[in-house]
Amino acid sequence: MKNEIKICKSIDTLSQFLGELLKQRINEIPDGCYFSIALSGGSTPKAVFRFLVQHFSQQISWEKILIFWGDERCVPPNDKESNYKMAKESLLDLVPIPKSNIFRIKGENDFKKEALEYENIIKQKIPLINGVPAFDFFMLGLGTEGHTASIFPNHLELFHSEKLFDIATHPETHQNRITATGKLINHARFTVFLVTGEAKSTIVANILNQKPGWEEFPASLVQPKNGKLLWLLDEKAASKLNNKIA
Ligand code: 6PG
Repeated sequence: MKNEIKICKSIDTLSQFLGELLKQRINEIPDGCYFSIALSGGSTPKAVFRFLVQHFSQQISWEKILIFWGDERCVPPNDKESNYKMAKESLLDLVPIPKSNIFRIKGENDFKKEALEYENIIKQKIPLINGVPAFDFFMLGLGTEGHTASIFPNHLELFHSEKLFDIATHPETHQNRITATGKLINHARFTVFLVTGEAKSTIVANILNQKPGWEEFPASLVQPKNGKLLWLLDEKAASKLNNKIA
């Protein structure tokens, strides 16, 4: 799998690039059809969402977008930890996406039941490719220790799960999470890692330069079967990359 990499000067130029990319793909969607996006949580998307509100709220046909999440913390929707709350406050309340187009993971519910529930919603709403729902756009972040979505190191079984959503536990906080599995992630049409900041430069180089042990990182297993994979980095996150990009 050839990793496509785009290195941007700053998080603003990265957000501008992402906005243009989304605008082009969404605005060409025929009327009556939809563009499905799975959002990630974290501080990077929060900054990107705010930029999109400021610079793309009039340029993107937001009503064509169906919003889902790639992972969610098992907390109520008004909890400061909630990925839904972050997206709602930074983006969804500030652009004209119909509320009926937003499908949150109900972190307040029994997490085993909710993982199944959400999987069924995804199967109903997202067109299948080879029998698996294929998101038009899957947003992912990267933890400094190589996690993505809520698939943490030493839990690669979640990547190989037959389910589309499964249960994870944060290794430090022991917070329960509901996360997309590798089966769903790797069936997306277009997957984008959004990675910024010096703190991520080592893990980015470990993965993209395929340093010894690189295969142990969950993010390394994001290798879309048929879709496109783009690593969208700022210069700080890319600062330790050598030119031997895998
Ligand atoms: C979450 C995210 C998680 C996040 C990474 C990177 O629920 O926390 O889905 O996978 O994307 O931890 O987060 P930052 O962008 O804040 O570094």
